[in-house]
Amino acid sequence: MPVPVNATPPPPALLSSTHTAVVGLQWGDEGKGKIVDLLTEHHDAIVRYNGGANAGHTIVVAGERYALHLIPAGILNPDKLNIVGNGVVVDPVKMLEEKEGLGRRGIRVGSNLRVSSRAHVVLPWHKTLDEALENLLSGRSVARGGADESLGTTRRGIGPCYADKITRASAIRVGDLLDENRLAERMRSVTAIKNAQLRAFDPSFSTFDSDALTKQYAEIGRQIFTHVTDTTYLLHDLMKAGKRVLFEGANACLLDIDHGTFPFVTSSSTSALGIPAGTGVPCSNVSNVIGIMKAYTTRVGAGPFPTEQNNATGQYIRDRGREYGTTTGRPRRCGWLDLVAVKYSAMLCGATRLSIMLFDVLAGLETLQVCDAYEVKGKRTDRFMPDAIDLAEATPVYTTWPGFSEDVSRCRRLADLPTNARKYLDHIAEFVGVPIGIVSVGPDRAQTLID
Ligand code: IMP
Repeated sequence: MPVPVNATPPPPALLSSTHTAVVGLQWGDEGKGKIVDLLTEHHDAIVRYNGGANAGHTIVVAGERYALHLIPAGILNPDKLNIVGNGVVVDPVKMLEEKEGLGRRGIRVGSNLRVSSRAHVVLPWHKTLDEALENLLSGRSVARGGADESLGTTRRGIGPCYADKITRASAIRVGDLLDENRLAERMRSVTAIKNAQLRAFDPSFSTFDSDALTKQYAEIGRQIFTHVTDTTYLLHDLMKAGKRVLFEGANACLLDIDHGTFPFVTSSSTSALGIPAGTGVPCSNVSNVIGIMKAYTTRVGAGPFPTEQNNATGQYIRDRGREYGTTTGRPRRCGWLDLVAVKYSAMLCGATRLSIMLFDVLAGLETLQVCDAYEVKGKRTDRFMPDAIDLAEATPVYTTWPGFSEDVSRCRRLADLPTNARKYLDHIAEFVGVPIGIVSVGPDRAQTLID
């Protein structure tokens, strides 16, 4: 049948797949929020499956900047369901603050936000312990004349909360907050354990009062009651009803607890491998995995970073890319694109498309370096080393690409990009072995080139 001349072209494959995951392929802050926001329009539900308030998504809509930490980025679209899965650690105080902040700006947060009753709760002692451990690791090693050994965590209590989940006896889940009697019982036993741990850690710590915490968190339970549900059944019901689901990865692949640069990682399964455990949805349901990567590399916190540029190039990237943390405000470490790392992450996630972010930031650099291999103890390798001690020994082997000086932020189609910019992108796709589906050339929705 002939296609009518004025027919709307079909959406690119990237937008028409049933269930999609969006996952960061580097050390975080790749700009996942922007792509989630863009894809939200084509999905019915947006789901977080890992991490907690350590994640930071910045989205710019109609010139307005929104920073989200716990609530999925789909909340900006009034008709979408936003789901916080069981794999997330929920700080309910932060979640309510975020909800209020959105409300003040006219964004409704009601039955469009659903939180798993099985997600674990971040409690005050988790933040105390996170902070205390970081201080111990930095202060003690510096006092010994050594380097700072802290992990550079966000101090949001993420690691200690996941530790309690694994310990089991000292964990409290969102569902526990909904029934005051059940909470009181749980809180009594958990507070006793946590107080003993805190006192052993530092006898000067003030301990927690179980009755006061029960009162405070039962009240929070009453405030979040309407959001709490069994999100696993909810998701399966939605999928059976033909609804399209978007999974929003927090943090990023190289920060994965199992596959990242341990111990300089976060405490959850950040890659697409975290989706089944963190939501109860089998991996076979997710056929479209979009790997989000910057056109260069950044990292916050400590840990090896082979292509880091502690020089004018790093500063150029930091200034142009506004590379300061959304969650902590810390300046991010900046460097050249590490394709060995990206290829490893794309392999783990089963990435079906790449989305290249902040491409405009590179304009004006005379040449661009790309790390295509490492040299370790005189031997060349194209394999990533997900252990911090091994990776610290890797020296990047670069290929050099001609830079581009044109202002690509005005481009609206991939075909508009200058030749040198295209060459750089073609190299990424060829090296990683995954086609590029999106190139972002600025913060606004309009500055997104989709293939
Ligand atoms: P935690 O997640 O607060 O325990 O921090 C562990 C490490 O992961 C630190 O180096 C953090 O800076 C890093 N991290 C955690 N979440 C993010 C993120 O969303 N973007 C970038 N780095 C992150």
